[in-house]
Amino acid sequence: MFWAAVVTLAITVCSVSADTPANCTYEDIRGTWVFELGTGNNNRTVDCSKPFNVSKVLTLQLKYPDIATDSFNNIGYWSLIYNQGFEVIVAGRKYFGFSYYEGKTSFCHQVLGGWSHDVLGHDWKCFNGKKSEPVIKQNTLLSDKTYVTGPKVNSEDIVVSINKAQKFWTAKRYSQFEHLNEEDLLRMAGGRSSQIFSRPKPAPLTAEHERVRESLPESFDWRNVDGVSFVSPVRDQGSCGSCYAFASMAMAEARVKLQTNNTQNPVFSTQDIVECSHYSQGCEGGFPYLVAGKYAEDYGLVLEECNPYKGKDGQCQTPKTCERHYFTDYSYIGGFYGGCNEVLMQQAIYSRGPIAVSFMVYKDFMQYKSGIYVHTGDNVGVNRFDPFVITNHVVLVVGWGQLSPEEGGTKYWIVKNSWSTKWGIDGYFWIRRGTDECGIESIAAESTPIYKYMK
Ligand SMILES: *[C@@H]1O[C@H](CO)[C@@H](O)[C@H](O)[C@H]1NC(C)=O
Ligand SMILES: *[C@@H]1O[C@H](CO)[C@@H](O)[C@H](O)[C@H]1NC(C)=O
Ligand SMILES: *[C@@H]1O[C@H](CO)[C@@H](O)[C@H](O)[C@H]1NC(C)=O
Ligand SMILES: *[C@@H]1O[C@H](CO)[C@@H](O)[C@H](O)[C@H]1NC(C)=O
Repeated sequence: MFWAAVVTLAITVCSVSADTPANCTYEDIRGTWVFELGTGNNNRTVDCSKPFNVSKVLTLQLKYPDIATDSFNNIGYWSLIYNQGFEVIVAGRKYFGFSYYEGKTSFCHQVLGGWSHDVLGHDWKCFNGKKSEPVIKQNTLLSDKTYVTGPKVNSEDIVVSINKAQKFWTAKRYSQFEHLNEEDLLRMAGGRSSQIFSRPKPAPLTAEHERVRESLPESFDWRNVDGVSFVSPVRDQGSCGSCYAFASMAMAEARVKLQTNNTQNPVFSTQDIVECSHYSQGCEGGFPYLVAGKYAEDYGLVLEECNPYKGKDGQCQTPKTCERHYFTDYSYIGGFYGGCNEVLMQQAIYSRGPIAVSFMVYKDFMQYKSGIYVHTGDNVGVNRFDPFVITNHVVLVVGWGQLSPEEGGTKYWIVKNSWSTKWGIDGYFWIRRGTDECGIESIAAESTPIYKYMK
């Protein structure tokens, strides 16, 4: 497949935009759909990539902002999942599928081999979906020339420029990046074919949001709640675009710790996600909504020792005998893709625990050492670092803070990365809060452990 061939190994950074080449917008998906459901009363082992006989046809309306209705006037929900596909929940059933693509062409009006089951996870059926009118799009790639200007990642030049250009944060060179050439670094960020997709803007702050803001503390950190940490140790994703799996497992781990008052301290297997999840693309990327959310609800997570991290794609090696740990109530913060904002994120973190977010990685970010990350290009008014292919990286927000007025009063998020403790502030970074810095306030997701399974 085109994409798999071009995006080989991503080293330390991963790209959610390189998942599948499908590039379908909200407007592409919104509208009238006909779903054809397969026969059978299968369990979750059903293979929806195989052809199936149709047992039932239903017509659905996907409306603004997140309302789905069927022809019996049942009202449910739907959400776009980035630019990759969508999920619909209506009349007691869930439907999820990736938008169809061939090579670089997206067929946004089609879903082939989607998965459907009732809301309790029974009665699995495959489905194909078709929208009333065709939406066919070519991916447009920037020319190669665009990539070659600007200082190189991890060069002395880039570090000096960043440190000269602004006072928010300091940059440094990393010895672990030293052996990587420009091509490796492009692959780190998802490869030449991975390009940025326009993100939704954060949802406007309402008067209600402002009231919620008033009730929240000025700073908060799940690593130190009266001296107790509810966050698991920083890990290293290595040479695989599996950030989404690390951020998802990190959220799951923290939320179990939290629900059990630290009596359960699981480390979940990211390799199981890389190898075994049909809802993500292994080392080529994936999404917390579908991993910490849908996969953890439909299939459950296993512990690290059950399938230890190898950092590469492969056949699913998770033994069937491993106990699986289930999660539920997964959603984008704000209820649907496009409904997120700063206050809703704070509220989710404060009341339910750390959340998985994605943001755009520019080359300056890789040099982050300490301080509050603000993209340097914007700050100095030139896009001098921008020619580097911009990709999306997935991380875990564990809290927030604000500098004192003397220090400038900048608000920030406290974020756990998966580039080992040697990177940033012991593996963490701060990034400006309240301004949707690099899109970090636009696509946040969460899910909840089912406690009884944790015994
Ligand atoms: C699930 O379905 C597969 C094949 O359709 C079958 O082999 C397996 O035994 C089923 N498992 C359960 C728990 O019913
Ligand atoms: C579809 O139904 C036909 C007729 O009942 C059957 O012969 C065929 O095997 C079915 N195909 C699949 C993929 O189940
Ligand atoms: C994906 O679609 C968006 C919105 O239509 C567009 O801005 C972007 O350039 C597209 N990406 C590619 C790789 O074609
Ligand atoms: C949670 O654990 C702490 C430390 O072990 C303990 O002091 C506290 O009482 C526990 N809280 C609850 C609600 O059990």
